[in-house]
Amino acid sequence: MTILQAGAASVAKQDAAYQTCINPNCDTKLSVEETHVACPTCGSLLDLSYDWDRVNVPSSLREFEARWSNRRNPLDVSGVWRFRELLPFAPESSIVTIGEGQTVLRGSEPVGRFVGVGDLLLQYEGFNPSGSFKDNGMTAASTHARMVGAKFAACASTGNTSASLAVYASAAQLFDVVVFVGSGKIAFGKLSQALDFGAHTLQIDGDFDDALKQVRDVCEREKIYLCNSVNPFRLEGQKSIMYRVLEGLDWEPPDWIVVPGGNLGNSSAFGKAFLELKELGLIDRIPRLAVINASGASTLFQLHENQSVEWNGGETDDATINEFFTRMDAEDHRASTLATAIEINRPVSLKKCLRALDICDGVVREVTDEQILDAKAQIGAGGFGCEPASAASVAGAKLLREEGVIAASDRVVCILTGHQLKDPNVTVGYHSSTSGDVDAKLSEAGVDAVSFPNRPIVVQNDLDRILEVIRSL
Ligand code: F0G
Repeated sequence: MTILQAGAASVAKQDAAYQTCINPNCDTKLSVEETHVACPTCGSLLDLSYDWDRVNVPSSLREFEARWSNRRNPLDVSGVWRFRELLPFAPESSIVTIGEGQTVLRGSEPVGRFVGVGDLLLQYEGFNPSGSFKDNGMTAASTHARMVGAKFAACASTGNTSASLAVYASAAQLFDVVVFVGSGKIAFGKLSQALDFGAHTLQIDGDFDDALKQVRDVCEREKIYLCNSVNPFRLEGQKSIMYRVLEGLDWEPPDWIVVPGGNLGNSSAFGKAFLELKELGLIDRIPRLAVINASGASTLFQLHENQSVEWNGGETDDATINEFFTRMDAEDHRASTLATAIEINRPVSLKKCLRALDICDGVVREVTDEQILDAKAQIGAGGFGCEPASAASVAGAKLLREEGVIAASDRVVCILTGHQLKDPNVTVGYHSSTSGDVDAKLSEAGVDAVSFPNRPIVVQNDLDRILEVIRSL
């Protein structure tokens, strides 16, 4: 095993990009040549910060449009790096790209009807090379790994992060990869990707929260480059999802961004993206953010909505947060949802997400697996497809509309985070069910009824019988 060559460079005056601690009482600054997953002084999460005066940021977001027509430069093909002035931490020669982020924002009338709004749009991140939004972040993490000369990288994952890291490692051939997954906890589509892309795959006898704890310890001891969202470089790439949403709306911010919440990296990145754009004068209004938990994995909802834990200028109520986790441990309370991608009880980016909620006047909701799967079926019937966790966004938007928090006239963007084929078992289970006879796995998870099943029709291998069925449709 070759290990990461850890740098100890200090921040130089001329550096436009550097790392900072998110704790307002800690003024630690670190060079981008350094690799940390927590502040070495106080242990808080780290951010990328930029001296924007030293970056040649376009004076209008519209200037980025020209890039899109230039297919010769791989950096302009990438939906992340064509916005490179907004994440200027890497020399262009270090950038690792596999054409990620060529994703689209599309309106959907049928899904809008289901949610109860006239102007509903879906940002379809399933179009990414590994089939999920994670590639937006992994291109940035891989780029930083290359900058610091890492030869071994790792992550814990509910499946998509591992698929994404595995494809970057195999495509770039710059570093070897080990992924930690919970045994029996990851959808087969995702596991198959990690295996096929050649990642060393450790199935831990536990869940994601266990796997993340282990990988953090392993990476620290062995100086392996960690690619979970505690890595601040990864989240820089995920900001680009919001740039593309804005681009799809002719640079007009929508009223709402609705996103599933798991480890809370995405929501954190979205908040940072909007804050920076506002500070740079590139947008004049920040959309509201809704983060949607599965009810079987709803730490953020419990803390933010039920216990009023807020960002509070960085002075978060840590006593309440710690008490929550202590009780969770004492009761051995495990996350449990069919939306396995967000089956997480200890979100590592919790504080950054609280900051994003503050920036975006955000709300958090929880939705049941039944609501998630019904929403997923409606997304599919509307001509998109997504995996269960992604549908939490649409289920959450529907709930917020019913509550009157989202107005019928609002422009709402739901983020579809992962591809339909990631988890076919749940999809087939749902569509094979009837309300009186729900698939065993779904039923075990508390799904009592399905509202939009599309059952396969079993028919004899006989023309008359087949015609009978066809004519009855
Ligand atoms: N949707 C999908 C499809 C995901 O894979 C994830 C996270 C999320 C939503 C939640 O995003 O963590 O930024 O709040 N999947 C991670 C993984 C945890 O390991 O693949 P988040």
